[in-house]
Amino acid sequence: MLVHAAAGGVGHFAIQIARYLGAYIIGTCSAANKDFVLSVGAHKVIDYQAVAFEKELHEIDIVLDGIGGSYIDRSLITMKKGGVYICLPSNNSQGVTEKAKEAGVKGYTMLVQSSGPDMQMLANMLENKYIVPYVSKTFAFEDIPMAHHHIETGRTVGKIVIVL
Ligand SMILES: NC(=O)c1ccc[n+]([C@@H]2O[C@H](COP(=O)([O-])OP(=O)(O)OC[C@H]3O[C@@H](n4cnc5c(N)ncnc54)[C@H](OP(=O)(O)O)[C@@H]3O)[C@@H](O)[C@H]2O)c1
Repeated sequence: MLVHAAAGGVGHFAIQIARYLGAYIIGTCSAANKDFVLSVGAHKVIDYQAVAFEKELHEIDIVLDGIGGSYIDRSLITMKKGGVYICLPSNNSQGVTEKAKEAGVKGYTMLVQSSGPDMQMLANMLENKYIVPYVSKTFAFEDIPMAHHHIETGRTVGKIVIVL
């Protein structure tokens, strides 16, 4: 499984869940976050600033793409026929299903939905420490605008938290 934006809020949880389910996981991140991504369970890391990941990877079964845009085509060429490609950003995921179909892959966009059973499953995983959140920064409630600016840098590692 290939996870893009592996050091981010979604990526660092996705890696832990995939690891729990027994996947072999490759994450893309900058060199500065290599150790962090390995520490949450990735087997291999690709520094996307140094290497074109699509030149390194072949026969990938599943891609969880937290970047979208040009990463869509670049990811699809790394994939096994019949694989599953999931694009998370909604603002730059146009044509995912069609492009994936042309590549012989099942392509999906998704929007998170509130689900009690899913939450319960994740709560159990947290309780048993199968997944552990990494909080890189906390902000006071009155500093929420700063928290937004921080997220918008696209450089957040793990999660940030607002403290009441
Ligand atoms: N569809 C849905 O329901 C849903 C739900 C949640 C999130 N999303 C979307 O999914 C995306 C990821 O969310 P998130 O919360 O995980 O974001 P995030 O925490 O802001 O992600 C930040 C991470 O992205 C990495 N990154 C930036 N550019 C990269 C690149 N070119 N290649 C690889 N990694 C890169 C950075 O690592 P480096 O500094 O190492 O580059 C940073 O650690 C966002 O677009 C978000 O809107 C969608």
